[in-house]
Amino acid sequence: MRKPLIAANWKMNKTTGEALSFAGSFGQMFYERFEGDDTPVDVLICPPFLGVPALCAVFAGKPVNVGAQNMYWKEKGAFTGEISPSMLKDAGCSFVIVGHSERRHVFGETDEDVSEKVRAALDHGLKPVICVGETLEDREQGKTHEVTSNMIKAAFSKVKAEEIPSVVVAYEPVWAIGTGKEAKPGDAADVIGNIRKTVDGLFGEATSDNLRVLYGGSVKSGNIRSFMLEEQIDGALVGGASLDPNEFFKLVEIAHKTKR
Ligand code: PGA
Repeated sequence: MRKPLIAANWKMNKTTGEALSFAGSFGQMFYERFEGDDTPVDVLICPPFLGVPALCAVFAGKPVNVGAQNMYWKEKGAFTGEISPSMLKDAGCSFVIVGHSERRHVFGETDEDVSEKVRAALDHGLKPVICVGETLEDREQGKTHEVTSNMIKAAFSKVKAEEIPSVVVAYEPVWAIGTGKEAKPGDAADVIGNIRKTVDGLFGEATSDNLRVLYGGSVKSGNIRSFMLEEQIDGALVGGASLDPNEFFKLVEIAHKTKR
């Protein structure tokens, strides 16, 4: 069975001090509830770059993963303003979000950039969380499956079959991100089913059984259960509702209870 993953994408929120305060409150609730290293739910927190070292220090040796929200794929060099995979690895990151819709739409990230980043992440022992999702226009034109499949094909173009268990996909319909209008769980499961089919088409029958696919877009404690009840959905990538430690802990708790 695929282990559930609840991931926080803080976006451009929280100073390092605020990140540490979140870590203190969340850590206390989480360790009390789930004793030991082998927690039944994987937890990932992706702060802004500046918060990464502090959170990695606080969660060192604890069952809370820290990741970045982006990176560049080159090792080093004249790339002003960028962060490399080895810098993230050195800081203690284990995951990196790649191809988030805000990266694609606000910063012009392309499918080709995403595939380079996925390759670089895997080469450096970072697990990529690959985000894909259709716009409202795509959906209204009946292009959801086509658009998401094409994004998946591009993102996986440099991935090897044996690396699939180290990859995470987050299906995030663009129209559901930060809008309070979440997808219908059945619709999300349908798209995710098609994403798995696409991956199986690329790598062979049942490869996607080992691929964790999350849903993202206006997930909160009031709706996460309905997503986790879907067999296709292995967890959630959460923006707004991940900023409050109590709310984020609730998401982890509900995910655990639902998937148990
Ligand atoms: P949201 O963001 O939960 O605030 O909708 C999700 C995301 O962008 O990953």
